[in-house]
Amino acid sequence: MSFKFNFNQDNDDSENKQDDNEEKLREFNVKDDSTVELCAQSCHFTASEVKESDIEIEKVLFKNNYQLKKLMKPLDIKPPHLNKNSNNDYEKLLTKSDLIPGVYEGGFKLWECAIDVINYLIENKINLKGKKVLEIGCGHGLPGIYCLLNGAHVTFQDYNEEVLYKLTQPNVNINCNGDYEMIENNTHFISGDWKFVSDILSKEKFDYILTSDTLYNVSSFSKLHSLISNHLEPIQGKCYLASKTYYFGVGGGIRKFEELIEILDILNVITVKDIKDGVSNVREIVEITLKKD
Ligand SMILES: C[S@@+](CC[C@H](N)C(=O)[O-])C[C@H]1O[C@@H](n2cnc3c(N)ncnc32)[C@H](O)[C@@H]1O
Repeated sequence: MSFKFNFNQDNDDSENKQDDNEEKLREFNVKDDSTVELCAQSCHFTASEVKESDIEIEKVLFKNNYQLKKLMKPLDIKPPHLNKNSNNDYEKLLTKSDLIPGVYEGGFKLWECAIDVINYLIENKINLKGKKVLEIGCGHGLPGIYCLLNGAHVTFQDYNEEVLYKLTQPNVNINCNGDYEMIENNTHFISGDWKFVSDILSKEKFDYILTSDTLYNVSSFSKLHSLISNHLEPIQGKCYLASKTYYFGVGGGIRKFEELIEILDILNVITVKDIKDGVSNVREIVEITLKKD
């Protein structure tokens, strides 16, 4: 066998790694043609539209006896500027399914990871005073409301404008005891698909990004990853993501999202809390930060 210097070994290795990564990335760009990607828009509400006496509310209990209020069911009102793609009959959708990808993404229900993320903020006494917070996929918006009540400015994002209008914003109102000036100065609501949310946020950066129960659909992972990467404050910013470790039957979950994080190599991720509710319901909170250049 003839001897030769393998000068190209490093180049070959990095090309192989790139090919490998491209192959793996294909899995995260799965596109379900039946889904509609709603344009993002800022939603403006008049806080005084909702009166606590007109609605049924319940209390949700967290660590250290901390309580927040939530509506028992969405308000029966129509958003004034309904996104042209969102002409769905939500009452019917709600009786049929917890979520319908690309149509209704589950925001009318309170999912257990939202509770987990608030408990984490309480347990760790995270200081929110004067901080900028983005809650991605907020639904009821309780994590964002906790931050608002603790002195933060909060941007609430949900896929469906109806969720923000009929549920998130009323929940903000009932927890802030009618302090409409504080609400108007410290909240921003954005509806639409993650793909377009940066069009509205532009270069805005956040000290904290919170998101819970949003990793069930692998085809949305790269959009969520971009949103976090684009809007996390580079030096101190932290994203707390609460999710099931695995969503059985749909392929999502924290381990799968970590695979994408590793390939794209922009973010760091560490598990900061494990939550076990029986064998099949294993949840985690991960802390995500931007890698330093
Ligand atoms: C299962 S719900 C969780 C709601 C809430 N975070 C909770 O834990 O109660 C998932 C949320 O993610 C958001 N979401 C999912 N996919 C999305 C997408 N492609 N674009 C925008 N929002 C999306 C929806 O707004 C929806 O409210």
